[in-house]
Amino acid sequence: MPDIFEPTNIIVTGGCGFIGSNFVRWVVKNHPECHITVLDKLTYAGNPANIAGLPESQVELVVGDICDAELLDQLVPGHDAIVHYAAESHNDNSIADPEPFVQTNVVGTYRLLQAARKHDVRYHHISTDEVYGDLALDEPRRFEPDDPYRPSSPYSSTKASSDLLVRAWERTYGIRATISNCSNNYGPYQHVEKFIPRQVTNILCGIRPKLYGTGENVRDWIHTEDHSRAVWDILTKGKIGETYLIGANGEKSNIEVLREILSLMGQTEDAFDWVRDRPGHDRRYAIDPTKLERELGWKPVHTDFAEGLAQTIEWYRTHESWWRPAKEATERKYSEQGQ
Ligand code: NAD
Ligand code: DAU
Repeated sequence: MPDIFEPTNIIVTGGCGFIGSNFVRWVVKNHPECHITVLDKLTYAGNPANIAGLPESQVELVVGDICDAELLDQLVPGHDAIVHYAAESHNDNSIADPEPFVQTNVVGTYRLLQAARKHDVRYHHISTDEVYGDLALDEPRRFEPDDPYRPSSPYSSTKASSDLLVRAWERTYGIRATISNCSNNYGPYQHVEKFIPRQVTNILCGIRPKLYGTGENVRDWIHTEDHSRAVWDILTKGKIGETYLIGANGEKSNIEVLREILSLMGQTEDAFDWVRDRPGHDRRYAIDPTKLERELGWKPVHTDFAEGLAQTIEWYRTHESWWRPAKEATERKYSEQGQ
């Protein structure tokens, strides 16, 4: 049985983004003994509304940049862990302008690792399955923790770089670090630039959904709440220096997902546009979560994708004031890219 780490005062970077804010909400609900300092720069993807209404005694928002070493030096002492979600997260943006990806994902991670080292705090690094590159559509294999890194996009290459920094800091300086690489998340509070929210809000706005390339690309979907629980399990029970893959056996092609959305929203199955493919588009991601299940006893709860998708659609239907402000600019950007 692994040693249990019981954090009481953690920093969550990127806690105003999609997955970070879902994690903050999950911790507030399930671990009221744990205080959370959210460190977030509030880029276009960060929204303080994502953590609004949470008890002030348990959640504090500090607006700042993870690249700011002085700020980290002031903030980190007194905390017992950093859970690092903050990133530039969107592949299409990284193709259009990689600069902020290198800054935030690589330099920002470096600065956090230096702070974790200096102040001796536990560090958990949130990463992506995309560091492993892609699989052929018909390959029986799935990604495993020790697979070689083969990132394809500017985004995934900066995430891969950040993972390698973590591994080196753990081995060389002995920082207490773990890494998790998760597959595609879905659920509430996801920015309208991403696949599922884009199509759902397009339909709600009377715009036809947009499918890249052939629509055959496969993503391995997991509900963001299952991701949150896995991260807590790794933070509290994971073995220092280890990498855990998080996935919920949720492989689906993009066209399958789009057809489910169309059907759940009362549209015909051909009511969408084919658009220009993403350059370097990864074909398929698939996670083997055996290590996480066997060693830490984690299992996904949201195993019915159609039900999770229906709830997510309902969330966007009832939260128009949350997504509306970002919608027009996002679609303008896509349309300039031919997507
Ligand atoms: P997101 O884009 O929704 O949120 C990113 C958050 O980070 C925002 O709140 C933003 O303001 C903040 N941020 C960006 N740059 C910052 C900086 N320099 N300093 C401080 N804060 C900054 O991203 P997401 O989809 O929630 O992803 C969160 C993490 O999970 C990322 O590390 C991503 O690589 C990883 N991940 C995402 C998925 C997915 O499906 N979305 C899957 C696996 C892993
Ligand atoms: O696998 C984990 C990764 O999942 C995370 O690391 C990333 O942060 C996250 O953004 C996500 O990356 P993807 O590139 O897979 O997600 P995205 O939502 O951008 O696209 C999902 C799939 O849908 C992908 O094959 C591209 C396709 N797509 C996307 C959009 C926005 C479309 O066909 N049409 C679209 O309009």
